[in-house]
Amino acid sequence: MKSFPLISLARSGKVNPKSIEDYLNTGGFEAIKKLSSMSPESVLDEIEKSGLRGRGGAGFPTGLKQRFTSSSCLSCEKRYVVCNADEGEPGTFKDRMIMETDPFLLIEGMIIAAFAIRATNAYIYIRGEYYPSIENLENAIKQCYDKGFLGKNILNIGLNLEMGLFKGAGSYLCGEELTLLESLEGKRGYPRIKPPFPAEKGLWGYPTLVNNVETFSHLPFIISNGSEDYIKIGTAESKGTKLFCVSGNVNKTGVFELPLGVTLRELIFDVCGGMKDGYKFKAALLGGAAGTFADQSMLDIALAYETLKKEGLTLGSGAVIIVDDKTDLKKMMKSILHFFKHESCGKCVPCRIGTRLLLNEISKQNSAEIDMNFLLNESEYMAKTSLCPLGQSPVLPIKSYIRFFKNFQ
Ligand SMILES: Cc1cc2nc3c(=O)[nH]c(=O)nc-3n(C[C@H](O)[C@H](O)[C@H](O)COP(=O)(O)O)c2cc1C
Repeated sequence: MKSFPLISLARSGKVNPKSIEDYLNTGGFEAIKKLSSMSPESVLDEIEKSGLRGRGGAGFPTGLKQRFTSSSCLSCEKRYVVCNADEGEPGTFKDRMIMETDPFLLIEGMIIAAFAIRATNAYIYIRGEYYPSIENLENAIKQCYDKGFLGKNILNIGLNLEMGLFKGAGSYLCGEELTLLESLEGKRGYPRIKPPFPAEKGLWGYPTLVNNVETFSHLPFIISNGSEDYIKIGTAESKGTKLFCVSGNVNKTGVFELPLGVTLRELIFDVCGGMKDGYKFKAALLGGAAGTFADQSMLDIALAYETLKKEGLTLGSGAVIIVDDKTDLKKMMKSILHFFKHESCGKCVPCRIGTRLLLNEISKQNSAEIDMNFLLNESEYMAKTSLCPLGQSPVLPIKSYIRFFKNFQ
């Protein structure tokens, strides 16, 4: 693997996350200082040139999303920046690493985004059980206000930005961006119909930029070093580093920051030290519950947006759940389908009923009786008719499972 600079975890474990001085002494807020010689337009250009794509799961180009948000409803007196720190995808535990170990990095990324889209208010919607992250962010936000990095006329660059933290109540669906905005407005976590997208009509009807924690954490690097440095990392179409969350029976589990394009084999056998004694690699579930299975034949695939898409696979949030030869795949699939049933909000019929039907089918005692065609057809039907991406998700693990393993016997 070519050497590369760490972006999201550069300071992780090396600085005191409660100290703004530590952040400043290690190059923190240099990007904000650079903003004084840049226009919002030039920031947008730089981020677009970097090729950064959203790290929350969908991989949407970040610069383009910022441009849409910046140019929609020009007569609106407000626009918002919202950080999605809900981190609800099973197998995903990367955003907390950034928030626990380098909370100022997230805040700096959000300030840059606010400058680019001319937003005056920002919120971090955080998973309510993330106590150390909440503590560190509350402390970091306070210190930023005290030192003039938040509030009125930040560093005399003419930017006013108020930032607040909002704790979620533990709903998977509230990580979906429009449901998140409903919840942030104080309403029940039901999805909104898309379009309009948040860029057009988001929080309280105003243009809103919603990005994931990891996505924001890349902005200071891009602005400080320039997009030319950023595009040296990764593949032709997938730029930068990615946090991979590896769980399962490998020797070293955890969060690893690696360039996009690393292969599954390198990740498992080099970075994670291979399978634990007595276990053989069978598959990896990429992207969490709303992700896809990849078996042995995919070990040499580059973990990058374009290469995975070509194979019908997904990178998603960066979760890599290792499945070994002793894993009971039926139990695993049942757990995934139970999760979807439990988290379905019940607003639309295809998802409310469909998730139950899928769970009932997989729960049959005799594996030979499980009708794989039913699972496939029902999940495809749900994908076509459900109101929001939750109901559109079960087809991903089911279809990829059937492709590689056929049945549960
Ligand atoms: C059911 C569901 C749950 C989601 N949960 C999260 C989450 O916990 N964190 C996150 O960043 N994105 C989550 N997303 C993706 C968001 O809807 C959205 O794409 C993301 O916040 C955009 O940020 P990005 O462009 O930086 O990736 C979820 C999507 C769905 C459909």
